Amino acid sequence: MPLVTPANSGAADAAALKKLAAEKGLLYGTTISAAQIGTDHEFVGLVLQHAGLVVAENEMKWQVMNRGKPGDDDYGPADTVAAFAFENDLALRGHNLLWYHRTPTWFFDLATRQDQERAIVEHIRALAGRYRGMVHSWDVVNEPIEPKDGRPDGLRTAVFLETLGPEYLDLAYRVAQETDPVARLVVNEYDVELDTPDQETRRKTLINLLERMRRSGTPVDAVGIQAHLSCAGGPPFSASRLRRFLADLAGLGLTIQITELDVTDENAPADEVVRDRLVADTYQRFLDAALDEAAVKMVVTWGLSDRHSWIVRRETNESKWRSDSAPSRPLPFDAELKAKPAYEAIVNAFAYAPGRTPG
Ligand code: XIL
Repeated sequence: MPLVTPANSGAADAAALKKLAAEKGLLYGTTISAAQIGTDHEFVGLVLQHAGLVVAENEMKWQVMNRGKPGDDDYGPADTVAAFAFENDLALRGHNLLWYHRTPTWFFDLATRQDQERAIVEHIRALAGRYRGMVHSWDVVNEPIEPKDGRPDGLRTAVFLETLGPEYLDLAYRVAQETDPVARLVVNEYDVELDTPDQETRRKTLINLLERMRRSGTPVDAVGIQAHLSCAGGPPFSASRLRRFLADLAGLGLTIQITELDVTDENAPADEVVRDRLVADTYQRFLDAALDEAAVKMVVTWGLSDRHSWIVRRETNESKWRSDSAPSRPLPFDAELKAKPAYEAIVNAFAYAPGRTPG
């Protein structure tokens, strides 16, 4: 199997996304999985061509690694991704150390503060310790807020919060920093990109949390904006609101990473040309606004080709389906690894982005 298809060779080489990004001080990357590394050499070729950074799509999530008992974790698939990054001289994102949604079942039976604290500390020491010095940034806590849970501070009532209180966050970031002092430590969050009252509340909540963490000396370096976007039928987008939010985050002394960018087309018309245009326009509008902010240092798309996307993956419950069941086209390259208008949109956004110091 050729490593690079004709569609991605030649002229496309000059427009490697990582190169265009780097010219502006940006790091561009994508998810990859151990299975893809092992079996899809054609896709791996595309990743090597375009990505300066990779992140394991699932392999470093605690519940995914854990075999059902405390401390009994399978590092095999995570090691495959880390070794791939190392051997190919790519930056590596760590995703993630704690996530309410991917916490092993046994953790929920730990009744005391002491037991929970110990489990969190041991997990972070083991996982961040294994890849110490190899990780560009760690999502230490993924998705910590949920104003709809009704707490005055807007924090998500995760299992850690119920027993340890908001200090579970400070504990996690402190232990992560002790374990890997070089990695940038990130708070990663979703639904903070669009112009709705709910998302405005989420933005305020996130800022309050980050302000509180900075004030109390908790080592947080960056904020991750997931940016799972929708090209049709979704909430409105306001470039000026996004810019203001990003400027507020930068004002806290944080750098900003776009961590999981993709554009679902589930409510768009069936016509592929129309769909691809709408998806591309969404990338363009979002990135044009986001990259105006010099504190944004990284853009990661949640996948590179429609061949491998959580939106179109059939075997998972999380797959999102179009009512006409036509395969979704959310990423810069199609399932045959041909560049789509979304790729051109990213190229343009990088080309017009102001330069910045890398971070
Ligand atoms: C998703 C993966 O892409 C899927 O393969 C998996 O089934 C579920 O998780 N926010 C996150 C990511 O932080 O970890 C999620 O990844 C997508 C939403």
